[in-house]
Amino acid sequence: MTEESNSGNDSPLNRMRRRLTPPEFPTDDRSRMRMVVDSLILHLHPTKVPRSTLRWTYTWGLGGLSALLVMLLALTGVFLQMNYTPSPPQAYLDVLALRTDTWFGDLLRNLHHWSANLLIVTSVLHLLRVFFTGAHRPPREVNWLLGIGMLLLVVGGNFTGYLLPWDQLAYWAITVGTSILTYIPVIGQPLSGLLLGGPEVGAPTLLTFYSLHISFIPLGILALMSYHFWRVRKDGGLTIPKSASGREEPAPERVTTIPHLVRREVVWAAAWLAILFLWAMLIPAPLEGIADPAVSPNPAKAPWYFLGIQELLLHFHPLVGAVIIPTLGLGALALMPFYDIHTENVGVYFRSYRGRYISLLAVGGALLLTPLWVLLDEYVLDWAAWLPNWPTLLSNGAIPLAIVLLGIFALDEILRRSFRVNTEERVLALFIFLFTALVVLTIIGIFFRGPGMALYWPWEMPALH
Ligand code: HEM
Repeated sequence: MTEESNSGNDSPLNRMRRRLTPPEFPTDDRSRMRMVVDSLILHLHPTKVPRSTLRWTYTWGLGGLSALLVMLLALTGVFLQMNYTPSPPQAYLDVLALRTDTWFGDLLRNLHHWSANLLIVTSVLHLLRVFFTGAHRPPREVNWLLGIGMLLLVVGGNFTGYLLPWDQLAYWAITVGTSILTYIPVIGQPLSGLLLGGPEVGAPTLLTFYSLHISFIPLGILALMSYHFWRVRKDGGLTIPKSASGREEPAPERVTTIPHLVRREVVWAAAWLAILFLWAMLIPAPLEGIADPAVSPNPAKAPWYFLGIQELLLHFHPLVGAVIIPTLGLGALALMPFYDIHTENVGVYFRSYRGRYISLLAVGGALLLTPLWVLLDEYVLDWAAWLPNWPTLLSNGAIPLAIVLLGIFALDEILRRSFRVNTEERVLALFIFLFTALVVLTIIGIFFRGPGMALYWPWEMPALH
């Protein structure tokens, strides 16, 4: 503030003069640098933020960590690209050479690999935190949709990157992953043909995946991420945390972004970079023998993030397991801010005290019922054999789907009658139940499926070949 405004002589002319006079520019290098950095930070952040939003236990720093991983991926990706040729078998040889002949090549590859996998986990956890605190509700519905777009691109980036080492793991995981596409009616086959560049995974697929991986997908993530950040500010900053009793401070205390928020961000980023470097130095990214289209491993599994869907394919007709259920799930997720719209308890984890108990109940229910259903379907139910004259879309698709949906409706009804839950608590319970079920299916796919995709205890798994 100038002396004039302090003295109360704040006429419109003085105000305009102040606006037009450039701020004093520091002359020494350090202060000048500081000013540039501060100004850069304040392009991304508001000048002040509510103190309560800085609490770790509210955001868990998951959005920031995801952004850090995106930057690390872009940086390591540029270096990897300098030592890589997107055509078989050179692609595999390049990765081998990167590991042994290039300075820090192995470290860069490991960092890139683990950061990409971690990014899926942090993006999903961030989505959960946003949903659990009701931060997806109006006016933040656009940011929710942008988030879903980014999550799809992050999965797309992982999937296209999976093929690039051109080893057995990559070749067969992408073969299984892209075969899921062919179950989409009408457009499935042409879409798969377009992506593969032929009837099966081959040199054109590697080139297509590489092009997508280094251009459209990272550019898409960068564009959506910039818009995502801008929207956080546009929507009035982060949602303000409230206690489960719904009480909120009358006027939340606001603190300056520099240093309060920035200090936390720097410490968080430094800690995670240290963890990631250590992890990448100790645990190498997998690399098997060169891709051999003639030798299929048993079992051939999709990348881990699609193993929930691959597990569904073992229990449902492909149209139901690979298309209808994922589409309904994604559609319901995208439309969430348009039907789950109570704005009173935004900022309260799990909506209320009762919401917390209901959430625990939903997790427990899914942990119990999902493996039970997998075992029942594996060893007892055999609709296709019991109804041999029915089309499999009905016997193995519509019937099991109807039974699962009826089971979910029955659980919802029990919840509604026994606990008198309201609509938002029912949406919460249903979301948590289905999400936990998906996690359980993915874990079964990763650890409990062995040769022939049969069920095994992980410690009794026959050696995979
Ligand atoms: C690459 C992936 C992502 C990045 C880098 C990212 C980044 C961020 C950051 C830095 C914030 C502010 C701080 C925080 O809440 O942690 C934020 C907030 C938010 N994000 Fe994301 N995000 C990503 C994915 C998602 C996804 C998958 C969703 C949901 C579908 C989502 C929805 C939101 C919403 C609604 C907010 C505002 C939260 C509030 O006001 O409390 N984001 N994001």
